[in-house]
Amino acid sequence: MLHIHSSSKARRNTMCYRSICSVLIFATLLAAPNYAAKKYRAVVLIHGVLTGSESMELISKRIQEMHPGTQVFNTVRYAGWSSLEPMWRQVEEIGGDIIAIGAAFPEGINLLGYSQGGLLARAILQKFPDHNVRNFISLSSPQAGQFGTRFLHLFFPDLVRETAYELFYSKVGQRTSVGNYWNDPHHQGLYYNYSRFLPYVNNEKTTSLTDDFKVGITKLRKMILIGGPNDGVITPWQSSQFGYYNANETVVEMRDRDIYVKDMIGLKTLDKHGKLKTHVVPGISHFEWHKNTSIVDDYILPYLD
Ligand SMILES: *[C@@H]1O[C@H](CO)[C@@H](O)[C@H](O)[C@H]1NC(C)=O
Ligand SMILES: *[C@@H]1O[C@H](CO)[C@@H](O)[C@H](O)[C@H]1NC(C)=O
Ligand SMILES: *[C@@H]1O[C@H](CO)[C@@H](O)[C@H](O)[C@H]1NC(C)=O
Repeated sequence: MLHIHSSSKARRNTMCYRSICSVLIFATLLAAPNYAAKKYRAVVLIHGVLTGSESMELISKRIQEMHPGTQVFNTVRYAGWSSLEPMWRQVEEIGGDIIAIGAAFPEGINLLGYSQGGLLARAILQKFPDHNVRNFISLSSPQAGQFGTRFLHLFFPDLVRETAYELFYSKVGQRTSVGNYWNDPHHQGLYYNYSRFLPYVNNEKTTSLTDDFKVGITKLRKMILIGGPNDGVITPWQSSQFGYYNANETVVEMRDRDIYVKDMIGLKTLDKHGKLKTHVVPGISHFEWHKNTSIVDDYILPYLD
């Protein structure tokens, strides 16, 4: 297992990850001995909000333990407070890394994002439709948006769910990642008018990129959506599987929502070809998904080929 610490001089063009840093290392990778066992594709991990690569170490180590020889790229970008920077900024930068890693592994790579990281990952697939990601695993991510303030209280102590839209649907609010995917079912007009991120990646708003946004999803070999009813943070928890509240806060499941029915981003296409997998796992809180070895063994490893 490689252990090269990230350089503090890391720049945009020198991919810098916790265990692997810079293009130099790729030479090492290529020269690495061939494992007699199965050769696994490289995996990229993206952490959640207000944490960093350290939060993804259990997953990283377990992958390397169970699938020896796997190159795991655990991004160190946008850790801690910087994870609150706007989604598009993070998509551009981490997306650039993923394209560069993909170029070094032309046989394809796999991608996993936890919490906010899973939404970043999904948007990266859409914004960079030339990617060579095969399987994408979304681990309890607010794919359809978020309408709950538990956990947000850590950094917005006075935030109340009912009025948070006043902050988030403003120019200032849109400078935060959370504002970018805040989806208030009672203020859909404001959401549509103000949100700079979610209505675009969901193709609810049409732009010149709308087609690309679908291509980047439909080319996947598999999309895996993991979440569960005891999550406690993702609200509604069904957002982890593209379900969401309607205007009276009844949860509408993914397959009954426009994003699926109208195949707006390619979910239905994937599903028709057996490429869309959902796993509903009860009993797991939001802070356990990435810390629980059996979650990795049962729902993640089977998709890392
Ligand atoms: C959204 O923008 C449209 C067009 O500018 C405007 O007519 C509409 O009133 C706005 N909706 C809200 C809820 O602000
Ligand atoms: C809420 O919406 C659902 C689905 O549109 C509908 O079946 C239900 O009757 C609504 N409930 C109320 C209280 O309006
Ligand atoms: C880990 O997840 C499994 C479900 O896959 C669950 O049964 C178990 O209780 C969890 N362990 C912990 C420590 O949360």
